[in-house]
Amino acid sequence: MKILVTGGTGNVGGKVVSELVKRGADVRVLARKQPEENAETGVEIVTGDMLDPVSVEQALRGVDKLFLLNAVVADELTQALIAYGIAKRLGLKHVTYLSVFKVDQFRDVPHFASKLAVEGALREFGVPFTILRPGYYIQNDLGLKDALTKAGVYPMPLGTAGIAAADMRDIAEAAAISLTEDGHEGQTYDIVSPTLISGPGNAALWSDLLGKEIKYAGHDFDQWEQGMRARMPGWSAYDLRMMLQGYFERGFASTETEVARLTRLLGHKPRSYEEFATETAELWKL
Ligand SMILES: NC(=O)c1ccc[n+]([C@@H]2O[C@H](COP(=O)([O-])OP(=O)(O)OC[C@H]3O[C@@H](n4cnc5c(N)ncnc54)[C@H](OP(=O)(O)O)[C@@H]3O)[C@@H](O)[C@H]2O)c1
Repeated sequence: MKILVTGGTGNVGGKVVSELVKRGADVRVLARKQPEENAETGVEIVTGDMLDPVSVEQALRGVDKLFLLNAVVADELTQALIAYGIAKRLGLKHVTYLSVFKVDQFRDVPHFASKLAVEGALREFGVPFTILRPGYYIQNDLGLKDALTKAGVYPMPLGTAGIAAADMRDIAEAAAISLTEDGHEGQTYDIVSPTLISGPGNAALWSDLLGKEIKYAGHDFDQWEQGMRARMPGWSAYDLRMMLQGYFERGFASTETEVARLTRLLGHKPRSYEEFATETAELWKL
């Protein structure tokens, strides 16, 4: 059985490739350029661009199943529907789609609205599918090393109520299970860790782990968006601001029921932010 992974050079897609290889699947990756080193032996790389239907069709020919991940880009919906439409035309047996937790409650957030539309197509057009809906990626915070260890600030405006988090390793395992085992057709799985995370909670946790005071920067969304515009395109800063403000105003918390369902799917408890932070603090101290 051959499985095409999109986004396979990225954070989650790379882990999905490893999990599939571990389970003996024959994996092909659609990549924009041929990597200098093919980290996973035996993985076929096909070059193409998700905005180019000809190259997407070449990548999908001869494939049985698709793991569909799209980057947060302004044309995310077009990219996703090109891949989905061609997979449907070629008669693929299964598509596992990487969506996002509570996708239907944040329709004013551009990348959530795109994913909701793709989920709609998956449910409408009959190709067997599984949808994965992860919370805030725990590993996003690997990018906070300087803020935490130098400035002493936890800068993500996650609010105080507690939001759902997800470890990328659990997302990858769930994806591989859905693509290599039976019984996941038509299922939507929330990928959520056992504990909620918050701005002040994460600041306190990192304070303990790093042995220094870390302050939560608060949640001034105008200021946060303005700061992010220096580091990413304006549309992207806006999109992420709307997401974070939405979490704050409407909530993004997961439930014990959702955690229990994921535990059954994975065969182990999902990983927590605390475990990740503990491992990471040790590495940063080296
Ligand atoms: N971060 C979070 O907290 C969070 C939470 C829930 C859901 N998500 C979702 O997770 C996804 C991002 O996952 P990630 O962090 O693993 O992404 P990532 O590391 O940014 O990787 C993006 C991948 O997409 C590929 N790509 C981008 N544009 C492409 C194009 N035109 N054609 C072909 N490939 C293209 C990139 O390839 P190149 O190597 O060529 O750039 C890369 O492999 C998004 O859909 C996001 O909404 C994120």
